[in-house]
Amino acid sequence: MPSLVHTEIETAVKGFLIDQEKMTEVVERMTKEIKMGLAKDTHARSVIKCFVSHVQDLPTGKERGKYLALDLGGSNFRVLLVNLISSSDVEIMSKGYNFPLTLMSGSGNALFDFLAESLSEFCHTHGLENESLPLGFTFSFPLQQQGLSKGILVAWTKGFSCEGVVGKNVVSLLQEAIDRRGDIKINTVAILNDTVGTLMSCAFYHPNCRIGLIVGTGSNACYVEKTVNAECFEGYQTSPKPSMIINCEWGAFGDNGVLEFVRTSYDKIVDKVTPNPGKQTFEKCISGMYMGELVRLVIIDMIAKGFMFHGIISEKIQERWSFKTAYISDVESDAPGEYRNCNKVLSELGILGCQEPDKEALRYICEAVSSRSAKLCACGLVTIINKMNINEVVIGIDGSVYRFHPKYHDMLQYHMKKLLKPGVKFELIVSEDGSGRGAALVAATAVQAKSKL
Ligand code: GLC
Repeated sequence: MPSLVHTEIETAVKGFLIDQEKMTEVVERMTKEIKMGLAKDTHARSVIKCFVSHVQDLPTGKERGKYLALDLGGSNFRVLLVNLISSSDVEIMSKGYNFPLTLMSGSGNALFDFLAESLSEFCHTHGLENESLPLGFTFSFPLQQQGLSKGILVAWTKGFSCEGVVGKNVVSLLQEAIDRRGDIKINTVAILNDTVGTLMSCAFYHPNCRIGLIVGTGSNACYVEKTVNAECFEGYQTSPKPSMIINCEWGAFGDNGVLEFVRTSYDKIVDKVTPNPGKQTFEKCISGMYMGELVRLVIIDMIAKGFMFHGIISEKIQERWSFKTAYISDVESDAPGEYRNCNKVLSELGILGCQEPDKEALRYICEAVSSRSAKLCACGLVTIINKMNINEVVIGIDGSVYRFHPKYHDMLQYHMKKLLKPGVKFELIVSEDGSGRGAALVAATAVQAKSKL
């Protein structure tokens, strides 16, 4: 514990410091919830829904062809063209589109018209307007899927709240918007969660990949389950295919109150100012959309009590969400005793003339929030690995927090090792282009399935 840190600050962040015993408890509670989500009898009242993705085939490396992909639900919206040329050669072209923030809470039609417009612009730029390419739609929100190309939106998460979409088939909404324009010939053949894209994309190169994890704006994981255990899938007893990818939607863990023992008063404040209070409890403790705000709330509390920055508050730090989660990565990237990134962050926040103890305090708060995130994520992964009852697994991971936080990978690995049964081997691998290559691989499965009909 850094001696420079005021004891009052240590006390304030104590709630974020969860010990091994609490982590074991999280694993136990989560195991129960996952089992409830999978089972037909308990699914309706479960909080971790364990949605059936309808993806039953892992990549073989033999998938070929050109596919389009849309990626909605992360930090930016993208259109991609993926050409699966050979098992070692995949060409990806992509363009990020400026996503007007007003669209997040506008009408569903406006959202889907924007997606179709961007897709059309992309197709025209690449001379694809007359090609009838299959499209895989990476839509990173909870979906009740009734097939590879039919998904009903259960709820919005991560700050989205567009009207008229919950309860509807998102593929139809997209396809109708494309058809309304009438200037491209694209066919949406598959819809998938980003975790599924991440798993598929990683499995293309690492055949032992069985789990896909996102720690970015939101957090969630999917894994390969035995089809017979996926009771909410109609063909769970009759399907000739042994596996089914399950989209856990673990972000909702704790929405029934079972996580109160790892939450702090700051978590409760963050929750209240989101468009979905009371929902996505686990995600709000873990993911990039919320971590920065948690740090900001601790800071302003400490300033108000006179324990940081001589009690002087800047205008910027008073603004909600002004402490970006990327700042946590910045602050923790400084070597011990150095404050280059920390100084940059403080100056962006309009906080000038800080002394070393203030900077140490800031780092201490950031570490408390990020290490709780990594510990909870480790609990989630361990729960899944135990549930799968396997001794060796590769986990494909994507998301800005995992990618950019200097210690996230190491923390995750360290805590997983401590929680897992001895002898269980795992590898954490960054999965490249889940929403591109992953979407194309799922679209390829859908096209193949159709051609067999
Ligand atoms: C949210 C979404 C989930 C997604 C995750 C990561 O939790 O509900 O579908 O996978 O964010 O983007």
